[in-house]
Amino acid sequence: MLRPVCRCSKRGAQAALKEGRGKQRPHDGMNDLPFDSDTVSPRLLVWYGQAGRDLPWRNTGDPYRIWLSEVMLQQTTVTAVIDYYQRFLEKIPTIECLAAVPLAEVIDLWAGLGYYSRARNLHAAAKLVVEQYEGCFPEEVEALQQLPGVGRSTAGAIAALAFNRRAPILDGNVRRVLCRLFALQEPPRSTSAEKQLWKWSEELTPVANVHDYTQAIMDLGALVCVPRKPVCEQCPLEELCRARKLGLEQQLPLKQVAKQIPTRHEAVLLVDHRGQYLVRRRIADGFLGGMWEFPTISFLEGEAPESKLHLLCSNLNLEGSAESIGHSQHAYSHFRLKSAIYGKKIEDLSHVAEGDHRWFSLDELKNIALHGAHKKVLAEFQKSGV
Ligand code: ADE
Repeated sequence: MLRPVCRCSKRGAQAALKEGRGKQRPHDGMNDLPFDSDTVSPRLLVWYGQAGRDLPWRNTGDPYRIWLSEVMLQQTTVTAVIDYYQRFLEKIPTIECLAAVPLAEVIDLWAGLGYYSRARNLHAAAKLVVEQYEGCFPEEVEALQQLPGVGRSTAGAIAALAFNRRAPILDGNVRRVLCRLFALQEPPRSTSAEKQLWKWSEELTPVANVHDYTQAIMDLGALVCVPRKPVCEQCPLEELCRARKLGLEQQLPLKQVAKQIPTRHEAVLLVDHRGQYLVRRRIADGFLGGMWEFPTISFLEGEAPESKLHLLCSNLNLEGSAESIGHSQHAYSHFRLKSAIYGKKIEDLSHVAEGDHRWFSLDELKNIALHGAHKKVLAEFQKSGV
């Protein structure tokens, strides 16, 4: 189902500015904004008509395509997403197709984009939409938020962009714009800041032209109100911006204090048979489900990795010792993983337990969905020249 697209034209945007407040949501008199919230959207729309980006997902009203783009754009830049988005749609053009393919196919299409839980959630959400909603996305933010991988901001973006619903968003770009516009002087991820930012986002979201307004504020964050050195002279909100008035635009948003996370340890074995390396796919429904990894075994802080390594070798029917190559580490949101890396060259394949394992060349390893920690393991291994 293709919906009408409401791309912002310069004429439309100028008209929006002229019409100004009359067409906007009436004030409830309850907000604590330092300026009239209704002046923000018209300014943004004019700017968007002149400077907004023409991106592939902006020329469609198809909720499937909009949802896919929003999920890909979580934690990933527009430049990195464009090719993936187009390739994904060539292979999997509808939500029915997505619900029908195996997870491994989705993970393989995602290879290199990172944050693979997004691919797993995408697949689970497609099944749910097909089974519960006959393939039609729900239009309400609350229902969209029930889908795996769809948080409040992504739900707001889908509701606004696919269904032109008045729904606020708070992604990284919008968060930064609002922190500066209102000169928020607390870490933006704190509970109270979060609440305040959502309130402001809601207050600024207009009734009319929600689609273009939403794209416009995202683009403002991506092109003008950028993390370092914002280009305030080109900002349509410069006159209103509190951070600019206070000379704080470079200091805000405040930095978040890094949280303490535990460390886990693993021994990783790179088995090399004539330039082919042994990897296995992780089980679909666990952490990093469906991704590839080198054979690995965990050990405790203070334990010698070799004490576990022989167990890993014997599980694979490999005899003899392995050579220590070095270390790498990788931080996930809830723990840090330290990997002790070992290499083992073999000539005779006949004993190696393969089961769910596969052999890939170094070139192939670069193109499969190897999880992030083991990408670093591979880089370290290659650096060592073994
Ligand atoms: N980031 C998140 N959603 C986006 C969109 N629709 N366009 C550009 N950047 C985005």
